[in-house]
Amino acid sequence: MADLTGIDVEHARALHEAENARFVAERPASMALLERARASMPRGVPMSWMDDLYEHPPVWVSHGKGARLTDLDEHSYLDMYIADMSAFCGHAPDQVVDAVARQMERGIQFLLPSEDAIAVAEHLAGRYGPPQWQFTLSATQANTEVIRLAREMTGREVVLLFDGKYHGEGDATLVVLENGRVAPEMRGLPGSISGQARIVQFNDLGSLAAALEPRDVALVLAEPAMTNAGLLMPEDGFHEELRRLTRDAGTLLAIDETHSLVCAHGGLTRAWGLESDFLVLGKSIAAGVPLGAYGMSAEIGALIAPPEHSRVVSGVAIGEVATGGTLFANALSMAAARVALLDVLTEGAFQRTAALGRRMAVGLREAIERAGLQWSVAQAGGHAYYFFEPVPPRDGASSRLADDPDLRALIRVFMANRGVWESGWWLGPTVSVAHTEADVDRYLELFGEFVAEVTRG
Ligand SMILES: Cc1ncc(COP(=O)(O)O)c(C=O)c1O
Repeated sequence: MADLTGIDVEHARALHEAENARFVAERPASMALLERARASMPRGVPMSWMDDLYEHPPVWVSHGKGARLTDLDEHSYLDMYIADMSAFCGHAPDQVVDAVARQMERGIQFLLPSEDAIAVAEHLAGRYGPPQWQFTLSATQANTEVIRLAREMTGREVVLLFDGKYHGEGDATLVVLENGRVAPEMRGLPGSISGQARIVQFNDLGSLAAALEPRDVALVLAEPAMTNAGLLMPEDGFHEELRRLTRDAGTLLAIDETHSLVCAHGGLTRAWGLESDFLVLGKSIAAGVPLGAYGMSAEIGALIAPPEHSRVVSGVAIGEVATGGTLFANALSMAAARVALLDVLTEGAFQRTAALGRRMAVGLREAIERAGLQWSVAQAGGHAYYFFEPVPPRDGASSRLADDPDLRALIRVFMANRGVWESGWWLGPTVSVAHTEADVDRYLELFGEFVAEVTRG
């Protein structure tokens, strides 16, 4: 019997079992390593997501080049996940490999600024808008510092987020709606974070206005288009109203472009002419070499300079907003970012990835139609997402309702068994700077094969 996605459930279940068995049988080296690793690492992985993100066991990677990665069983995959956007420059892009090798020879970590940092900050200012920049090692840390600055600047504590968001693993953003109330998202988080966050649905301006009305919100942290619950596009006028409402409420606004920066050369901020108080970047800006960044106005930047009354106690400036880390803005990350931004993430690269993104979206829609399914596709630049319902949802709650985790897991393992590394369920396929038309066509061919197979039952 077909379920809401239009797929025959029994047929899908049988196919899933067969694909899972094939996946394990064809990867003896990965399975043996996983067994060995369980003794030295919880769940047998160095970071729990590596086990969490996939329903099938993780494969152990050997290397990657361009749009492909290879596992230790010598399976090569066309990579449509690109490491959750962080490999948008492609794997091991030559220019960055050279720059990183050069910097390794010159030393990578001094706790002193390197000139590359100025070049990167100047470039980011010209490309994205905000004149002042600070650097961390990840977007999580950039968001954490942005939240602290906003709290200091406004004298308020509450952070407002959109349902279905992900902004990293900082306590302040790891909250969800549970029966309409804000609650910690996972275990190990203090209950107090619930009181410091508010969550509304994306595109719901009425709820947004009501949530800002008490004038206790320090910061709204938003993606321009939401990317972690499918690709959810803003409705006409949403961002203008978001800006107006935050200004009226004395609330600061941060646009998190960590993912969406892959959609356009100046991010969706520049493409759509958005205004914000902070702009957050990460993942691919240094071609996957760890680096996070946030941009801000000169007025907010002044908060980072110790205020007049600050005193230095045991080397720590008391009265300074809490930012910084030993490895942040290290010379290696900055050298990688300089080359990634100037030589890899060029305007031409974004024109090409956007054209490939359009090709991918058109091809996905055609395959869906051929299979007689009522699914829909959203696309922005080189990034796309297929929803299992006829119209793309407008917010996180409806996106969750429309989804079918089992079906996503089946698509992923079906594709992995045929040499394509499909994206995570929340994200959707993305082309990198290294992808070609032939790569997109191969992906579409396999997607077509999948929908034909799964609707056969
Ligand atoms: C929009 C957004 N912001 C921030 C982050 C956190 O990035 P990182 O895990 O590199 O700290 C993510 C990660 O997926 C993200 O999607």
